[in-house]
Amino acid sequence: MAAHRLALIVGANRGIGLAVTKEFLARGWDVIASARDPERATELHRLATSHPGRVSVPRLDVNDPAALDRFADTMGDHVLDAVLLNAGVSGPGHRSASAVTEAEIGALMFTNAIAPIRLARALMPRVRPDSGVVAFTSSVMGSVSANAGGHELYRASKAALNSLARGLWTEMRGRNLTLVSLHPGWVATDMGGSSAPVPVNDSAAGLVHAIEQQSGAQEHRFLDYTGKELPW
Ligand SMILES: NC(=O)c1ccc[n+]([C@@H]2O[C@H](COP(=O)([O-])OP(=O)(O)OC[C@H]3O[C@@H](n4cnc5c(N)ncnc54)[C@H](OP(=O)(O)O)[C@@H]3O)[C@@H](O)[C@H]2O)c1
Repeated sequence: MAAHRLALIVGANRGIGLAVTKEFLARGWDVIASARDPERATELHRLATSHPGRVSVPRLDVNDPAALDRFADTMGDHVLDAVLLNAGVSGPGHRSASAVTEAEIGALMFTNAIAPIRLARALMPRVRPDSGVVAFTSSVMGSVSANAGGHELYRASKAALNSLARGLWTEMRGRNLTLVSLHPGWVATDMGGSSAPVPVNDSAAGLVHAIEQQSGAQEHRFLDYTGKELPW
């Protein structure tokens, strides 16, 4: 029997990351689903119980640089078919460059832009050549050309993520890998709020489909959960 494909989801405890974990499992993948506090990741442990041997729940707080830099070395000899760098935060409630403190902007930029790139770079040697996909949960709010104003700090963090992802892609070119920056839609999660129009399971189904579709593409695109190309 062929081995299951293996996905790593970073930030899988709730919201989009949890729904993507469920979607990968439903499609027959095995999943490494990281959580910043595995002891409280009850849904992930329930999935591990109902899918014996197919789900592991390692600890990773992406704001802990030492843990971040150690994480790739904890992977053993696993070869990853897909990686989704999903952990993200919305930033300070005032949302304003005129009000932000150095600590607030540092935390927002580290979580949303620096940590995913730092981890992706460290994980690259463990991603399956040719078919492997490294995906980032970005946002249309990270598009400079589609910027309609508001949420300026969060937008800047996702624009920085897009820019860093493109830089990483340039660095990796010729090494038979695929990168994709994904917009999940405006999704009903703790971050998106209950009035968001896209149910989390619909977003997750679209994101996983997009990741599967990009396998072997060996390009870096900015796509939404329906597969539509977005402007940078
Ligand atoms: N919802 C939307 O409409 C929307 C739209 C565009 C993009 N996005 C992006 O989609 C991603 C997921 O968002 P969501 O809506 O699912 O948000 P959410 O419900 O607030 O979940 C955020 C997830 O990120 C994890 N996380 C945050 N900081 C972390 C850290 N330092 N270390 C490890 N994990 C951390 C959280 O872990 P804990 O459970 O431990 O807190 C949680 O699992 C984010 O990158 C977000 O920017 C969301």
